[in-house]
Amino acid sequence: MTNLDLNGRPVSFRSPDDTPLLWAIRDEIGLTGTKFGCGIGMCGACTVHVEGRATRSCITPLAAVAGARITTIEGLDPKGQHPLQSAWIELQVPQCGYCQSGQIMQAATLLQDYPDPTDRDIDAVMAGSLCRCMTYVRIRKAIKLAASKMRVGSAP
Ligand code: FES
Ligand code: FES
Repeated sequence: MTNLDLNGRPVSFRSPDDTPLLWAIRDEIGLTGTKFGCGIGMCGACTVHVEGRATRSCITPLAAVAGARITTIEGLDPKGQHPLQSAWIELQVPQCGYCQSGQIMQAATLLQDYPDPTDRDIDAVMAGSLCRCMTYVRIRKAIKLAASKMRVGSAP
């Protein structure tokens, strides 16, 4: 049994402690917003937050996150209206959509570190989040739009 905090609620997983967090979240809890892409930490589709930082859940065993605070795309904002999610909708970023929850979770930690990110910042941090549909230009625009909304929202 592995106990952790998932999207603000205590959860106990029965899966073996070497089960990848991705499969525990999807199969045991039924939160399917987090996607399986490569399974080897190379595409970013499975990105969640562990203690607020972007983490590849496909290569993270349950044992490594016992007691930790995990956030999935379903828990990023209680109403699904995080500035990134709003910007994604406003700029119609997704194409097939498969990679996009991972992109947004990665972008959320980018904005923690770079409140006013440059193209170079975005390209460096988002480089490991792959999109087969090549939505990179819209992703970059949406990150900048979300950043501007967040700066306005936090202004004194
Ligand atoms: S599925 Fe985890 S990085 Fe690709
Ligand atoms: S929107 Fe299709 S893989 Fe990114």
